[in-house]
Amino acid sequence: MSDVANDPFPVEGTHHIEMWVSNAKQAAFFYQHAYGFVPVAYAGLETGLRDRASHVLQQGNIRLVLTSPLQPGHEIGTHIATHGDGVRDLAILVPDARAAYAHAIEKGAVGYREPEVLSDEHGSVTIAAIRTYGDTIHSLVERGNYAGAFLPGYRPLELPADTDFAGVGLRDVDHCVGNTADMNPWVKFYGDVMGFTELNQFTDEDINTEYSALMSKVVSSGDGKVKFPINEPAEAARKSQIEEYLDYYGGPGVQHIALETDDIIGTVQALRDRGVPFLGRPGTYYEDAVKRIGPIDENWEDLQRLGILVDKDEEGYLLQIFTGNVQDRPTVFFEIIQRKGAKGFGDGNFKALFEAIEAEQALRGNL
Ligand code: FE2
Repeated sequence: MSDVANDPFPVEGTHHIEMWVSNAKQAAFFYQHAYGFVPVAYAGLETGLRDRASHVLQQGNIRLVLTSPLQPGHEIGTHIATHGDGVRDLAILVPDARAAYAHAIEKGAVGYREPEVLSDEHGSVTIAAIRTYGDTIHSLVERGNYAGAFLPGYRPLELPADTDFAGVGLRDVDHCVGNTADMNPWVKFYGDVMGFTELNQFTDEDINTEYSALMSKVVSSGDGKVKFPINEPAEAARKSQIEEYLDYYGGPGVQHIALETDDIIGTVQALRDRGVPFLGRPGTYYEDAVKRIGPIDENWEDLQRLGILVDKDEEGYLLQIFTGNVQDRPTVFFEIIQRKGAKGFGDGNFKALFEAIEAEQALRGNL
């Protein structure tokens, strides 16, 4: 548990991630059938909501909300016109939403939604929201003992008693990465507003390929339950992949969401069987990786067959793989990650990863 007495902005984890998309009904079908999420709740015309429809899906402890506008000239439609499908809300679970909001505003955050209590027959929830980079927000959700499927106002879907929420094995949100033009003000923001600390730092010398470089810093809540790496483009011979994102997203926003599994081989096999496309990797990756990483529990042939990357730090190793973009714009994608002690983010794989991203960037005529 967070130490509420000494931490002015205690954080208990990720409550949900909301994407604003042009066709939430079809997106929900995609995340259900390709990614293994279970639709659990809905709000829209049938529940008395007149301006939008939201589909809520769950897998393990991950809640994904997909929302579309129902009317022209709507804020959500404007967001989609600017950004394409994108992540609107990285919602954080907090023990006291009023206190968290008051502290955030006092520390210079811009408010988006004043604290309010939402209630239905399952109980009540206090929710507020602040702005972060670009048009992204952080809802601050105080869930208390609320027993409903998602939040008040959402109709729970009737599910069979044997519904398998384990899906393909995705369990929790591990980290959410933001692309910005200038990361340092946002590193300071998370330090000032949420008391997050900077985990590690690498420079463009670490993450540099022939063409496209970036710099990145990671901020984390005290217990590591919420981790936000923040990227910015670095000088390079050709266009940085972060610049490409900023051009197509129309400014800063969420680049990728990393979802954690306890069995990455089973999870990635299931995702591949369902047709999820992943980034490729350079042909020599595994020859180098076997030497660089040393002994691991997994079979290297399985990792190579599935395209799973491995990295290690002082505390252990991690396995990871990146999906292709989940919309036509080269913006948002997902990462699948399994940690075997390592607390990093796969820095050792960045060069290999970037070469794979650049190969696709070149195909798009953007390198
Ligand atoms: Fe990541």
